[in-house]
Amino acid sequence: MTEPLRVALAGLGTVGAGVVRLIDANGELIARRAGRPIEVVAVSARDRSKDRGIDLDRFDWVDDPAELARHPGADAVVELVGGADGPALALARAALGAGKSFVTANKAMVAHHGLELARAAESGGVALKYEAAVAGGIPVIKGLREGAAANVIDRVYGILNGTCNFVLTKMEAEGRDFAEILAEAQRLGYAEADPSTDIDGVDAAHKLSILASLAFGAQPAFADVVVTGIRNVIAADIAEAAALGYRVRLLGMADADGKGLFQRVQPMLVPLDHPLAHVLHSTNAVVAEGNFVGRLFFQGAGAGDGPTASAVVADLIDIARGEFGPPYAMPVEALAALPPADSGERRGRDYLRFTVADKVGVLAEIAAAMRDAGVSIESLMQRGAMADGSVLVAIVTHEGPERCVAQALEKLRGSPSLKSEPMWMPILSD
Ligand code: HSE
Repeated sequence: MTEPLRVALAGLGTVGAGVVRLIDANGELIARRAGRPIEVVAVSARDRSKDRGIDLDRFDWVDDPAELARHPGADAVVELVGGADGPALALARAALGAGKSFVTANKAMVAHHGLELARAAESGGVALKYEAAVAGGIPVIKGLREGAAANVIDRVYGILNGTCNFVLTKMEAEGRDFAEILAEAQRLGYAEADPSTDIDGVDAAHKLSILASLAFGAQPAFADVVVTGIRNVIAADIAEAAALGYRVRLLGMADADGKGLFQRVQPMLVPLDHPLAHVLHSTNAVVAEGNFVGRLFFQGAGAGDGPTASAVVADLIDIARGEFGPPYAMPVEALAALPPADSGERRGRDYLRFTVADKVGVLAEIAAAMRDAGVSIESLMQRGAMADGSVLVAIVTHEGPERCVAQALEKLRGSPSLKSEPMWMPILSD
């Protein structure tokens, strides 16, 4: 057998330890598939003495992760440290600068610095691989970069955050409100102590911007992703959605035309006959619609040591085989610089929910705002008094431009009739 691919691994948390365990368990099969063995030769982590259930004595221990880039025995570097900047970015720059292929699971870093790193990889003739950065174990980067490479992609969208899907699924199953379910998820370890990156949609936005670049041949534009998380979804929204034949899901959605790139993370209503409505708990799923292949549906675990290690080692297998193609499926120089799309012209049906004072004229006020903005109402439900005496008004609109809905909501902004911010969720179209 030929020389092994020698790997330096930065970060020995659950995923890093998972990578070591996976290579230990499946090494022989991996070597047959890759054409040569994959061998971890050096590791770096914060705490050397921590028991990770793996034997570390066989590896060189390096205290400073950035030093791994200079490890003379390593051909490739794996980064599982995390963080958009700091040590992870320093390691990426050093590894690629030293002519070593680089594998990362770091969505924040790829979302913020992917273009720079891809440029460095291309100019050094080495690989930059990040399958584990989007939807954990689901091979969606390979799916878009390789499997669907012959297609014009019309849109890419999906459930990109397991924490949010877990919370929304549990809210639906138990009819309880967001804050209660989140607190329980934190107690059980399903949600982080500081859950904001997940709950406020930032993690999903990182992943969406990576998918959008790949799908549309566009320069990454994380700053242009419009993000709304799930904090304002209430149990009654989920119940109303269910009564109408929908489930509430936090979706990342991207599409592009010649003029602009649309990227948004937002809770949406998903029809029950769409496969995304049946993605439960912390599972992730991505849909890509290609002009020849049709609808592709990728589903699986978006996090966890096994699934994420599976994606990391798949990237290492590519590198062992000598697959060094462009990180964004086309050379960086060929990526289009697309401005953010004008979302006002997007057409669709929408769910709007108002929590209002129970007094004469409130419904007329809402209806007048809709009329004045040119929003046509398809259905309207008013539910009786809530604990604080307010009532809930849920509206589904006919299809129309988004700008009209935005105008109607703007007109109602600050109205004393409204007891809280209105909730707006677009309905996913086929
Ligand atoms: N925290 C993420 C999630 C997994 O809840 O899906 C890593 O991005």
